[in-house]
Amino acid sequence: MGSLSDVHGDANRQLPEFPLDPVMEARNLNVFYGDFHAVHDVNLAYGKNEITAMIGPSGCGKSTVLRCLNRMNDLVASARVEGEVIYHEQNIYARDVDPIAVRTHVGMVFQKPNPFPKSIYDNIAYGPRVTGMKVDNMDDLVEGALRGAALWDEVKDKLKQSAYGLSGGQQQRLCIARTIATKPDVILMDEPCSALDPIATARVEDLMLQLRDDYTLIVVTHNMQQAARVSDRTAFFTARPDETTGNRTGLLVEYDLTAKIFSNPGNQQTEDYISGRFG
Ligand SMILES: Nc1ncnc2c1ncn2[C@@H]1O[C@H](COP(=O)(O)OP(=O)(O)OP(=O)(O)O)[C@@H](O)[C@H]1O
Ligand SMILES: [Mg+2]
Repeated sequence: MGSLSDVHGDANRQLPEFPLDPVMEARNLNVFYGDFHAVHDVNLAYGKNEITAMIGPSGCGKSTVLRCLNRMNDLVASARVEGEVIYHEQNIYARDVDPIAVRTHVGMVFQKPNPFPKSIYDNIAYGPRVTGMKVDNMDDLVEGALRGAALWDEVKDKLKQSAYGLSGGQQQRLCIARTIATKPDVILMDEPCSALDPIATARVEDLMLQLRDDYTLIVVTHNMQQAARVSDRTAFFTARPDETTGNRTGLLVEYDLTAKIFSNPGNQQTEDYISGRFG
């Protein structure tokens, strides 16, 4: 592995030490699956028009935390969330909040590209249709979303063909286009490139940097170069075994500007992880 401190994408980007105007904030977030305490007391603020990477060894709770940010854990019967997730000053776990409305503002892209068994066009049009979005011209919306996901030129002549005919990397960009079609504010990505080859990965990474101008991105990745290349801030998680039960509970170890995490982390565990000595 080359020196990660050399590769952080946007060293010229001047950012404050902490996100001054966070779009989302986890406050004292604890997650349980049944009796199992999966995530312990996470406090983390996600800056507007920033890319935040969440990294750490398998099982440390990255996906669990990510799923809390748009109430996807509601769909896991055994999951229980304590604490707050503040989105534009409102707790999305407050009793009167509709989780489906949350998910239209906070979209999600999964690890494996998961297009619907529909045409390319209908994959994009589906979300706006089912959410009852007011759309003046669906063709324009579809084109805009595909352009926004850097896919338009590759698919413009086959919009009526099945999305399954696309390559894996194209399918993942289609899923990103599908997410932005409903005009979210925040895009969550859980290892979005882990099923892609290096060329498709590079395209999706370029796309993330473009999307940052209009969206707030929160990305879980196992690829440390990816975190270093694209993210503005990095949150490092680990899992600590409980002394009595041995159960491994995830916790946030360190959160800082990516350039700092990868060049001069404040915590030995972070240093060990990013240098490949652990995890
Ligand atoms: N639906 C579930 N039911 C029970 N336990 C779960 C469930 N989902 C996750 N867990 C447990 O919670 C802990 C955190 O899992 P999570 O998937 O969030 O980790 P992760 O950091 O995303 O790992 P990976 O890097 O392997 O994707 C793990 O111990 C996992 O076994
Ligand atoms: Mg995961």
